[in-house]
Formats: sequence, structure tokens, C-alpha cells
Amino acid sequence: RQGVYANAKLKKNLEWEEQQLQIALKKNDIDEIHVENSKDYEFVFDTEAMIDFTNDGDDLLKDEESEYENELLENINKEQERLLDIQQGRKSLPVYQYRSQLLQAIKDHQVLIVVGETGSGKTTQLPQYLVEDGYTKNGTLQIAVTQPRRVAATSVAARVADEMGVVLGKEVGYSIRFEDKTTPNTTILKYMTDGMLLREFLSDPELKNYSCIMIDEAHERTLATDILLGLLKDILLHRKDLKLIISSATMNASKFSKFFYDCPIFNVPGRRFPVDIHYTVQPEANYLHAAITTIFQIHTTQPLPGDILVFLTGQEEIESTKERIEEIAHKLGSRVPEMLVTPIYANLPQEQQQKIFEKTPEGCRKIVLATNIAETSLTINGIKYVVDPGFVKENSYVPTTGMTQLLTVACSKASVDQRAGRAGRVGPGKCFRLFTKWSYYHELEATPKPEIIRTNISSIVLLLLSLGITDLINFPLLDKPSIPSLSKSLEILYVLGALNSKGSITRLGRLMCQFPCEPEFAKVIYTAAYNETANGVLEQCITIVSMLHETTSLFVGNSRDSLKSIVGETTSDHLLYLKIYDEWKNSNYSKMWCKDHKVQFKTLSRVRDIRNQLWKFCDKMGLVSMNEKALKELVDPTQSMEIKIIKCFISGFPMNIAKLGTSGYKTVSTKNSSGLEVTIHPSSVVFQQQKENAKKPSKYILYQQLMLTTKEFARVCMPIIKESWLSEMVPQIFKPNNEFN
Ligand code: CDP
Ligand code: MG
Repeated sequence: RQGVYANAKLKKNLEWEEQQLQIALKKNDIDEIHVENSKDYEFVFDTEAMIDFTNDGDDLLKDEESEYENELLENINKEQERLLDIQQGRKSLPVYQYRSQLLQAIKDHQVLIVVGETGSGKTTQLPQYLVEDGYTKNGTLQIAVTQPRRVAATSVAARVADEMGVVLGKEVGYSIRFEDKTTPNTTILKYMTDGMLLREFLSDPELKNYSCIMIDEAHERTLATDILLGLLKDILLHRKDLKLIISSATMNASKFSKFFYDCPIFNVPGRRFPVDIHYTVQPEANYLHAAITTIFQIHTTQPLPGDILVFLTGQEEIESTKERIEEIAHKLGSRVPEMLVTPIYANLPQEQQQKIFEKTPEGCRKIVLATNIAETSLTINGIKYVVDPGFVKENSYVPTTGMTQLLTVACSKASVDQRAGRAGRVGPGKCFRLFTKWSYYHELEATPKPEIIRTNISSIVLLLLSLGITDLINFPLLDKPSIPSLSKSLEILYVLGALNSKGSITRLGRLMCQFPCEPEFAKVIYTAAYNETANGVLEQCITIVSMLHETTSLFVGNSRDSLKSIVGETTSDHLLYLKIYDEWKNSNYSKMWCKDHKVQFKTLSRVRDIRNQLWKFCDKMGLVSMNEKALKELVDPTQSMEIKIIKCFISGFPMNIAKLGTSGYKTVSTKNSSGLEVTIHPSSVVFQQQKENAKKPSKYILYQQLMLTTKEFARVCMPIIKESWLSEMVPQIFKPNNEFN
């Protein structure tokens, strides 16, 4: 036998060479390869040491065939093993032991609260038990399970379809905004966001299609969940056959019970291992910095296996931290074990979401960078260490200014305790809190604030009014919104034309309610088709609105600047988005185009999807034909497009207008709200224009979003060129000559 001698040289990316060597090994019956510098496992295949192959075709064919057969057999075996594993896994979950007791309790009571440790099987198992127990009446009735988050709804549906051995979208499906993966007459188990079930009340106020409703993750207390509980409380009286299950992590269960006339609470004892809690000795000035240091500290000192879960506040933070970690890991090279960094946040494309559930390869450590989505709604196996900076991004609405801000705030005690618990699922774990013990005991609130008291409730008020619920003060709620918040929402709805001066819902209001987007966006779209001086721009406005739903994940890294070359100068962020989309459309939705211009293909594809759905909806509602009529009557349809778009947005977002004063921009003040000083964010086209061209700043701007960091920043802006458009579009608050009423 002949040995092959390959010179080992240090060089990167040698997959091809290695493959060649492997082939050489197999085919030539070579039993050994000597590698110089054997401690460097990377080596090149020296061309001088090339091996001559003899090639008899027959052999190759036979080999390939049998290899294929073997592979097939292996795959079948693997799949069978996997399915068996799944079934055994189901039985090993804590809820399984209580299966019959749970089903009995559900039979005996119309409303049941189920409380259990995260990961005990509430979300994936309970609905399956209901199916097995015949609650779908041979597939004629459905079971709905609501989730506060889109990611949870889709990933859990996929998991359950897998467990039941059915195709996702058939018997088991999900429904989230802009994406309906269910089949009428086939789907019996439907995972959905709480907002989607809320919308179903519009078409079916008694929820006749359902035999059971499970309001999952109720402790999250999202606005939609709170309203659902109120509405359900009412219909349970007429529909005695409807079962309601409220499931929740351990917080706040008695409050739910009281709300539903002291209904029983079923406690599923969980299994949980002890978790050591570590605090920092001093407050950390930069929590991201501290988090990265802690990750590497754990990685270099703690044994494998043992994955790390890190709680961060949002997508941008997660993506930049991921880059930073990978950079450092790369520099450390083979001195530390391999690291696999996997992000998880609401906007992450679904294929990538599934990655966090994949088993960590041996000799490797998985670092999961998550938003508080991993606090209770998703369970990731294998986590042993939790790094918790103790922050969360939260909406905060101030009715006196009418502003919603996305703020990074300290978590509640209940939240950080939940987070710590994630480390003790597979065995004893450790939690590293990046704040002091003193802070935990003296600074953190006990529980998180329910969304209803910290958000703009106008869309919900509109929904309730259109359902005929006019006595808003007495509508049953776990926590009531404040009176200023309620009156502000009525004011907004009046300004948008959804309510008349008497406070009753208008035809436009009913239409807005059916739109699959917020009332403000609905108004923009409506104006684009109907308003005499602004119509004919329906298509453009739908594109912009669709883009605005996905702006956070549009650009790859900090690639914004490179776009100028393709789209040229634009006067507003809205027009920039429009141009990006249209250019992409002109490229025939090409992937290459996105790559060349550093725009996320996945995001644009989602925008395309949203756009199609909005378009279909507008077609159904007659808006498309109105728009076409308007276009026919125009002499030159392109001429005033820009002006019309501005007008449409004024009519939809009259509260988001700021006026230039002596000390910068200040937002509109109305009867119920005072103005607020804002600065245009440096990422905005309007900011750059005003800077680069030393252009006189326009007297008014309209913005889509406020963000408080060092200052109050207005993001996604457009200049309002002419003052008279304000009173023309929104006479309710703007009067000619007397700008703000
Ligand atoms: O709802 P709860 O937190 O009580 O538990 P669950 O979400 O039903 O999860 C039960 C088990 O299913 C956990 O051990 C998860 O790891 C597993 N699971 C999974 O492997 N993949 C998913 N997409 C969802 C759950
Ligand atoms: Mg769950």
C-alpha cells in the first residue's frame, strides 16, 4: 500500500483540498495520511503530491446507487427515531401527568386558569389534549390559542403540527397580521396573535366557530389580551358551551380568577433546578459592554455543555452585539471553544427563528441573544446560563402630549425572576444580573405595567365602538385606562373622521376598523383614493405604508448611505422608501439587487406581501376603482404625486406634526395636549438635506415615530411644504391663518 504524503501548510479555507484527500483515502485504499505540523489541523493539499485516480465508471455508479439507498434508509430511520423521541418528549412534560385532571376541570368549569412554569407544556400540549378529547366535534369546530407575539404563534404552531404529524397550515395553522396560514374547513387548531382574535369579533361577535379559546401568556397583559378577556366575559354568558382557558406564568393568577367570578386556578407544578443568582458589585455604566464581557467570562471559565441566554432590548442591539461577539471570538480563534451566536426577536424571518431550537453541536456553545420574547413565550432547551442586563423596551404613552415613545426601561422584579428561571430547566444553572442587589430590592417595580395603561388606545376604542359597545367607562377590564387617555383617543378618532362631533362612529370609522392596519394608516390610504385634492396616489401610499411596517429591519448594517446612488436625492424618508420599493420592483424583485444595495431581501419580500394584501383589501372595499377613476381624470398624473402623498399623510397623522419655532421643532398642541420639543433624527433624509444643502428648514414636518435617547428624536420625517395644506386636510385642528387651534 502506498502512503500519500501531503505537505501541511497553514492556510485558511481548505475544504476543497480536504475533500480531495478524503476521496483519495476512500478510493485508493490509502490507510494513512501523514501531515506535517500536525498540531495545525488546517493544511493544504500540495499539488505535487496529487494522486492519480483510476476511474472505472461502473463502480462509481454502483457506489452512488447504494450510497443513495443507504442514505434513504438512514433518513427513514432517523425520522422514525425523531417521531418516537417527540412522542416520548410529550409524555415527559409536567402537564402530561395532569392530563386527565385538566380535562376534567375543563369539563366541569366554563373558565379555567392554568398556571405553570414556563416549559411545562401549556402552550403545546393543552390544545392537543382538547383535540384528543373531542372538543373539535369531528373537525366542525375550532380551538383558538392566542399569543401576544407573532414569533411565538408561528413557532409553536410549527412545533405542534410536527408533534401531531400534520402539515403546518392544514389541521394545525397560525394566523398573524398579514399572514394567514390556515385552511378553511380543515384547520382545527389555530394559533394566533391576540390581536387577530380581536379582529374576528368584527365578523363573528359570538365566535361561533370555536369550541374552546385559550388565552395564552395572559400574564403579559397586552392591550389585545385585556380587551379579549373583557369581550369574552360578556359572550360566555350567551355561549354556555364555549370553554375559556387562561394560561399564565406564575404571576397575577388570582387577579384573573377574581375577574371571572372566582373561577378555579389549576396549578401545574413545574420542575425547576436551583439557579445561583450573581449580582454586580457596582452599577454598570454600559450594560452592552458588561454583557459581552460576561458572555466571554462564562465561555472561558465554565465547562461545556451549557448554553447562554442573554436578554437584550431589541433587534438593532441584538444584531450589533452578535457582530461584536463574533469579531472577538474570531480574534481569540482556537484558544476558546467554538461559539454559535443565534439571535431571536419578533421580526426575525421564520427560518432563522427555528435555529434557536436546533441542538447545539458537541464542543460548541450556543449564545442566544433574545428580546424578552424568551422570558416566557419561548422555551429554548439547553440553557444553563442567563445574562440579564435588566432592561426592556416598552411603549410609553403620554396622553397630555399624545406621544407614544419607545423607551428602554428597567424590568420588574417578576420579569427578572422569570428570566433567571430560564437557567434552571435542564439542571442547576447560573444567572448573572448586570445590576446590583440593592437595585433589585429597592429600585425595581414588583410587576410590569399592563399595556393598556401605557399605550395609545384609539384603535381599541374604535373597535369597541364598532362592536356597539358605547359605555366605555363600564366595559369590564382588569385595569382601566385613565380618563385622559380615553378622552385623548376619542379626540384622535374625531380628528381622523372616525367619529362625528357627537362621538358616534361614522362610515369612515367602520371602514377604518376593518383595515388590517392602525386607524392612522387606514386614513392615509382612504385619503389617497377618495380625497378630491389628494386622490390618485393609492398605489404609492400603500407602498409607503407597507414599508413603514417593516422599517426596522430594512437595511443591512449601516448601509443606509449607499442607497443614495441608486435612488438619488429624495426630499423625505417616505419618498425614499417608495423609491427603494419601486426600484426593487423594477429589478423584478431581484435578490441580487438587494445584495448590491445592502437592503434585506427578506424584509422587502415581506413588504411585498403586506402590500399585496392591503391592495386586495382596498380592491374589495372599492378604493382601487375610486383611485382609477381619479387617475383617469388627471391631465398629468405624475406632476403632483409628491404633494398628494404629503397631504394623505397629514390627514392620517395630524397629531404627528411639528412646527419650527425659535428653539427648533415643537409638536402640535391641541385642546387635550401641549407641545413637545423634538429634533429630527440624523438618520432622516430631512436631516441630511437640511445639513448638506444648508437648506432653510421647512416650517412644518411630519414624523412617524418619536424616540427618546439623549434627546427627543423624530424619526422617518417629511417636510410639509405648504402651510395651507394643514387646514385643508384637517380643519378639525388646523384653522387657516391661525395655525393651531
Ligand atoms: O407553554 P409552556 O411554557 O408551558 O411550554 P411549551 O411551550 O408547551 O413547551 C413545552 C416543550 O416543548 C418545551 O420543552 C419546549 O422546549 C418544547 N418546544 C420545542 O421544542 N419547540 C418549540 N417550537 C416549542 C416548544
Ligand atoms: Mg407557553
